[in-house]
Amino acid sequence: ITKYRPFSVIDLPDRQWPSRSIDKAPIWCSVDLRDGNQALAIPMNVEEKVELFKTLVSIGFKEIEVGFPSASDTEFAFLRRLVSDNLIPDDVTIQVLVQCREHLIRRTFESLEGVKRAIVHIYNSTNPLQRRVVFGASKEEIRQIAIEGAKLVKELVPTLPDTEIVLQYSPESFSDTELEFSLECCEAVCDVWEPTPDRKMILNLPNTVELMMPNVHADQIEWFCRNISRRDSVIISLHTHNDRGTGVASTELGLLAGADRVEGTLFGNGERTGNLDIVVVALNMYTQGLHPQLDFSNLNDIREVYERVTKMDVHPRSPYGGDLVFTAFSGSHQDAIKKGFVQMPDDDAGALWQVPYMTIDPKDLGRNYRAIIRINSQSGKGGVAYIMEKEYGFNLPKEMHKELGKVVNAEADRTGDEITPEGVFECFKNEYIRVR
Ligand code: KIV
Ligand code: ZN
Repeated sequence: ITKYRPFSVIDLPDRQWPSRSIDKAPIWCSVDLRDGNQALAIPMNVEEKVELFKTLVSIGFKEIEVGFPSASDTEFAFLRRLVSDNLIPDDVTIQVLVQCREHLIRRTFESLEGVKRAIVHIYNSTNPLQRRVVFGASKEEIRQIAIEGAKLVKELVPTLPDTEIVLQYSPESFSDTELEFSLECCEAVCDVWEPTPDRKMILNLPNTVELMMPNVHADQIEWFCRNISRRDSVIISLHTHNDRGTGVASTELGLLAGADRVEGTLFGNGERTGNLDIVVVALNMYTQGLHPQLDFSNLNDIREVYERVTKMDVHPRSPYGGDLVFTAFSGSHQDAIKKGFVQMPDDDAGALWQVPYMTIDPKDLGRNYRAIIRINSQSGKGGVAYIMEKEYGFNLPKEMHKELGKVVNAEADRTGDEITPEGVFECFKNEYIRVR
C-alpha cells in the first residue's frame, strides 16, 4: 500500500538501539462488536453490526469477536444472520464471549450452529477485589468456576461436529490478580482442555482496568510467558484498556514481553476510556517499517463507517485518523513540510519517507495533502506560497512570499479565523490584480 518506505530507527546510521523491537505482526482480534458495542450509549443494531463486521473483514482481521450471543436477542440474531447470509469468510474465525455459567454456555453453543470455526471465549473475574466484593468467593471457588466452564465447553464440542472449536480463557482483571493465582487458574483450564502445539488454546490476559504503568504490565506478561507450563501449546493474548491513557504503550510493551496476540478496537472504542486502539498500534508498527498485516489504506472510509455505527466522533487529534493529524498551523512547520515534499523523489518507489513533522505519508492511509497546509494568523510566508503553487499553479518570486504572507496574516488576524486556499487566492487577487 505504500510508495515510500516508512522511516524507521533502523535507518539511523550507527544505531546501537533499541535492544528489542517488535519484529512480527501479532495475531489481531477485533473486539469492536463486543467490548466496543457494550460500551455504547445506543448499542448497534443487527444491520449496523453487519456493516461493521464487513468493514473489519475488509481491513484484514482474521479473528473477530462478534458478541455475547447468550446475553441478548440482538446478539444472538446477529450471529445467526452472519451464518444464514454466509457472511463469514473461510479464513475468518469468529469469537463469542460467555461467562463461565452453564446456561449461558449452552445457549452460546446453540448460536454457533453452522459456523466452520469459532473461538469460544470463557471468562471469570479472578482479582481479590471482585472475589471479595462481588462474589464472596474463595480462590478455590473461583478456580473451580473456570474449571467447570472449560469442562462444559469440552463436553459440548461433539454437539457441533462440523464446527472447529478453539477455547479461549480470560482470568478477568489478570493485571490486578495475584500472578500465581492467575497462572493457577489458567493451568487448571489447560489441564481440562489439554491443548497441544497443533491444537492450541488462547490464554487472554486482560488489563481490564488499567491501574499500573505499562512496564509493570509488561513484567506481568513476561512472568506469565516464562511460567506457563505449556508455552508451545498456548497463544498468549493481550487485552488492554486505557484508563491511564496508556493502553497502546501497555500493548506494545506486552508484545515485547512475549505475547502473540492483541485484542482491541478501531479508534479505541470500549468501556470507560476505551479498549486499546488497534489503528494506532498497527500503524505505529507500519511507521517502524513493519507491515501490520491490516489494511488501513482507506482510513477515511473506515472512520466514516465507525462514526456512523457507533454514533461517536473520532477525536481531531486521534493519531493517524483524526482530522488535524496531517495539518500544520505554524509557519515554521509549514515551511519544513513544504521543503520535505519538494525533496521527496517522485519517481523512486521505495525511497525513504522523509517529510519533517509527518510520521507517515498520508497517501498510505488514503488521506490527501490538501488539508496539510492550512493558513491562520500563526502561519508563515512558506505556507502561503505553497498554497499558491500547489492549488493555483503560481510559482511566486521570493519577494512576493513575504509580501503576500503579511497580507494573509493580517486578514487572518482581522477575521480571527482560518484562511482557506480560496481565501489566500482572494488576498492575492486583491493585492496584485487590478481590474479596470
Ligand atoms: O476487559 C475485560 O476483562 C474483558 C473480558 C471479558 C475479556 O473484556
Ligand atoms: Zn475488555
